[in-house]
Amino acid sequence: MTAEAEIRRRIAARGPVTFAEFMEIALYHPVGGYYTAGERVGAAGDFYTSPSAHPAFGALLAVQLFQMWELLGRPAPFTVAEPGAGSGLLCRDIVAAARPLTGSVQPAGLLEEFGRCLRYVCLDRRQGGGYERGLPAVSRIATAGLPLRGMVGCVLSNELLDAMPVHQVTMEQGRLREIYVTLDGQRLVTQTGQPSTPLLARRLASLGVELAEGQTAEVNLALDGWAAAAAQSLERGFVLTIDYGRPAGELYSAAERFRGTLTAFHRHTQTDRPLELIGRQDMSAQVDFTTLAKAGRQAGLDFLDYSSQANFLNNLGLPQLQRRPPVGPPRQAQAGRIGMRELAKPGGLGDFKVMAQGKNAGRPQLWGFHPSAEPAALLEQMPPLLPTPRHIDLLAGRYPRAEAEFEVAWDALWPDAE
Ligand SMILES: C[S@@+](CC[C@H](N)C(=O)[O-])C[C@H]1O[C@@H](n2cnc3c(N)ncnc32)[C@H](O)[C@@H]1O
Repeated sequence: MTAEAEIRRRIAARGPVTFAEFMEIALYHPVGGYYTAGERVGAAGDFYTSPSAHPAFGALLAVQLFQMWELLGRPAPFTVAEPGAGSGLLCRDIVAAARPLTGSVQPAGLLEEFGRCLRYVCLDRRQGGGYERGLPAVSRIATAGLPLRGMVGCVLSNELLDAMPVHQVTMEQGRLREIYVTLDGQRLVTQTGQPSTPLLARRLASLGVELAEGQTAEVNLALDGWAAAAAQSLERGFVLTIDYGRPAGELYSAAERFRGTLTAFHRHTQTDRPLELIGRQDMSAQVDFTTLAKAGRQAGLDFLDYSSQANFLNNLGLPQLQRRPPVGPPRQAQAGRIGMRELAKPGGLGDFKVMAQGKNAGRPQLWGFHPSAEPAALLEQMPPLLPTPRHIDLLAGRYPRAEAEFEVAWDALWPDAE
């Protein structure tokens, strides 16, 4: 039974399904669900994420994790749990950056000690992954939950929460209504009805949000459970959430987002037709960071900080990495420059948000949120960062006739380079 057949079967048997139920099946049904069916992120997939843009993303996160390890008193082990780890690429890049000296003749430094203390657990509800395989002190669990306890370390996620199923609501004649998916003959269509749960109205009320007439919005009811699970897994440490989203006031602004934020992507193109291409296109909705912070507080997580990805990566030393002299074959070096720029690009990945929460970890100033001198010295110890075949080739994507145009770009950027 494919994802689409299962949706049709449920509607025929029980009537309209909520958009959240539709999205759950379309993305995660065991047979033909979008994420279940194979690896979706990267050049061959439908979209790319920060880890696939450049290994600098993992290296800079390693710098932030290093500081967290220090703040917690250099525990061994220091566990990083990454739910929604997908292909395992971020894990691979973080581990590579954190253990650059292992086995080398260089004198052991603190970074090496951090690398030795680091334990990394990739978690994903999809079976698979792979890039993390073979790395020492790295494991993988196939789960939709967070079945760890007593952790000292960090729960880290990138583009996990925006891939969770959301309910859709709208305001009709002054009443909150929910959007359902149903059948009109053979065609899947939406229709509105009574909200399936009072939690939807309660969530909006708790945020002080009143939708305008005709406005559509998404509500992720899983955020509370997610924050509670993250808090439960930690004895001491941090939750670092990186995702596409904004505070509730902006997210639910009728003036700016009257139609909500649900997007559907097929082969790097936004389709805006979620009911089509079921199991073959991605769907995501922006994260409500206000609710995430509130849910965290209720679960025992202190809100520590919040920033844009551009700001976060810049504070951790992205400009320093960008200034490094080019290494490797010119084309690879140039692809690397473009990939790094992509990570902080306004209107793109740079506008993603980073939120830090803590449990029994005090109220430290984390390097990613405040300019400081410390990251620079650590980055110096890391080896050159070049995109690998595991990362997407943005140069090829942007400039199909890359070589000729590349020479022009290269000359313009580094007239003195060899
Ligand atoms: C948009 S992809 C991001 C993958 C990776 N983090 C990256 O940045 O490239 C979302 C991933 O989250 C996984 N996922 C969604 N809900 C999950 C859950 N509740 N627990 C664990 N993984 C989940 C999906 O299977 C998918 O691999």
